[in-house]
Order: sequence, then structure tokens, then C-alpha cells
Amino acid sequence: MGLKILGTGYYLPETVVTNEDFTRIVDTSDEWIVKRTGMRERRIASEPTHVMAEEAARRAIENAGMSPEDIDLILCTTVTSDYITPSLACIIQGNIGAKNAVAFDINAACAAFVYALDMAHMYLQNGYKHILIVSAEGLSKITDYTDRSTCVLFGDAAGACIVGWGDGEFKSVLGSDGTGAHTLFARRPLNDVPFVTQVDPQSVDHFPDVNRPGVLYMDGREVYKFAVGAMSKALLGACEKAGLQPKDLDLIIPHQANLRIIQSAAKELGLPLERFYVNIDRYGNTSSACIPVALAELNAQGALVPGKKVGMVGFGAGLVYGGCVFTL
Ligand code: ACO
Repeated sequence: MGLKILGTGYYLPETVVTNEDFTRIVDTSDEWIVKRTGMRERRIASEPTHVMAEEAARRAIENAGMSPEDIDLILCTTVTSDYITPSLACIIQGNIGAKNAVAFDINAACAAFVYALDMAHMYLQNGYKHILIVSAEGLSKITDYTDRSTCVLFGDAAGACIVGWGDGEFKSVLGSDGTGAHTLFARRPLNDVPFVTQVDPQSVDHFPDVNRPGVLYMDGREVYKFAVGAMSKALLGACEKAGLQPKDLDLIIPHQANLRIIQSAAKELGLPLERFYVNIDRYGNTSSACIPVALAELNAQGALVPGKKVGMVGFGAGLVYGGCVFTL
């Protein structure tokens, strides 16, 4: 059983922050950022995450020619929800009037859109018909603008799509490696106690005490190594399950964390870079919003041609990764 994209939408905040802008707040240069990451600009939101999410959701519903009442499930992905509780999905459900929808959030960091698609595929088999996935990230809220090694990387955006039954097959590979959790994390601002487990007092906080609560810490080199391996492993695995070779994929939408990571994955998979959709130069890393924003851009360009085989692949904090392939 396959999965069909019935509609897409995305929302970008108006404010554009260029590499040059960062040279005024940290010791960096446009040349370093472009060469090491491929990024040139990113958007920064003054609006809350739920506002971006709702706008992307409304646009996806309109694009699908549906009304909010047609949605029976809302899956949201975010690491920057405005509220600890309730879920972003419930806030969206109420504000857009999707009164027939069940709603909840998924936490799988930058890979979460692929996790949401995988979950949607299972719910479709369970009788749900029109599933709205919304990935919204206000990463600027958790970015440390004194840390040059991370602040230049992130941007804000929201992407959404509606999925339903489709022809062909949907195959995915998901994976997690919690032993790498300390390489990429943000503590809750409220949490001023160390991570000590009650069960095993020896297992005292193995997370480095390197940053203040509420902002992202990343060991870039470690995450980079993980990412390159995870990208090809996830895509190859999903292709294998579908009886495909990577070269059979017409289009790959990867997580936009670093152009060099995408280039390495392309090389490892033996594919031309042109097969990968890249918008990292314009938006930077918008975590789980990267893939649905790219999907919506492609849809607006008329590039989501029925029958084409698409691959999606993401990775992020956890550490987690996920890849999937399906026919449009
Ligand atoms: N400008 C100038 N110099 C910088 C900057 C900057 N913005 N950032 C770091 N540097 C310096 C470092 O201090 C270091 O200097 P040193 O040699 O004097 O110590 C030098 O550049 C090289 O640093 P590296 O960390 O080795 O640089 P690298 O080539 O690895 O690039 C980067 C860093 C871009 C972060 C890369 O490691 C990367 O992309 N990692 C993966 C990130 C990722 O994929 N994240 C995904 C998940 S994000 C999420 O889940 C929200």
C-alpha cells in the first residue's frame, strides 16, 4: 500500500538573515559559512511557532482542495513548540477548526517528518483517510547567538502536507542511537537539576555541561560523521525494502543540514547531486521543516509528477535517522 501527497503548504517568516549579518555578532565570514555549509541566508521568525504551523497547514488544506473538517488526524513535528503542553497539533486543530481530527506531536528532531510519514502510513492502514502532517520550527528561539559554530546554521520555517492512500508501495527505515544523545541537545530552561537516574545513581549526567539551558549544543564533527553514514544507510535500506536501487529514484529530498553532507551521501550512493533537492542556501537548517518545505516548493514548481519515485531522508538529535521511498 502506497501513500499519496494530496496537498502541500509552507510558511517562511519575512525576516532574512544573511551570512554578512552574522559577521556583526560573531567572528565568522560569508566565505567560511558558504564553504563549510552551503548556507547563504535563513529566515528568523518574530511570530510564534504555532502561527507558522497554522499558516502552513491552512495552505496545505487549500492546496488539497479540502476543508479543515476533512482532516481526521494531525501529526505535528517540532522541537520548538510554544508550549510544553498542550501539543502543537492540538493548538493547530483548534485554531484551524479541524474538529474531526485526532491530534498529537512527534519528537524525532530533524528526522521527524520522515517519522511522521511512516506513522501516517500506518494510520492509513488503520482506516484514517486524510492525514495532515505539520512540521514547524522556530529554531531561533533555542539558538545560542554567541556560539559561532551553531548560530549560523539554523533558520525558522513551517511545512505541511496532507497524505492519503496511494498506488505503489511506501517503504521506510528508521533508526535511533541514544548513545550519541550528548552530541546534540538542548536542556529545558526549567531543568536545573542534573540528569541523574534514580535507578542507577552511577549513571550521572553524561551530557557535557557546556551551555546554558534552553539553547542547542552540538558537537558538529561527531554529528557530521553520524549524518553521512545515516543518510546512505537509511536510503539504501528503504530502497532495498522496496526492491529498488538508489539510481531508480527520480528525486531525493534530504534534510538540509550541510551541503557537504548531501554531497557525501550522493557520492556514497553513486548518484548525481542534481538528483537531490537543495534549498539550504536560502533557508539553512530548519530541522524537521526542511523536507516538507522542500516538498511544497517542488509541488509549487509542478515537479511532483505522478509515477515518479521519491526518496526522503533525515537525521538529527537523538541521535535518530529515517529514510523512506514511495511513488508519487
Ligand atoms: N565561522 C568561522 N569559523 C568557525 C565557525 C564559523 N561560523 N564555526 C566554527 N568555526 C571554526 C571552529 O572554531 C574551528 O576552528 P579551530 O580549527 O581554530 O578550532 C574551525 O572552524 C573548524 O571547525 P569544525 O567544527 O571542524 O568545522 P566543520 O568543517 O566540521 O564545520 C559544521 C562545522 C558546519 C557545524 C559541521 O561540523 C556540520 O555541519 N556538522 C553537522 C551538523 C548537522 O548535521 N546538524 C544536524 C542536526 S541539527 C538539529 O538536529 C537541529
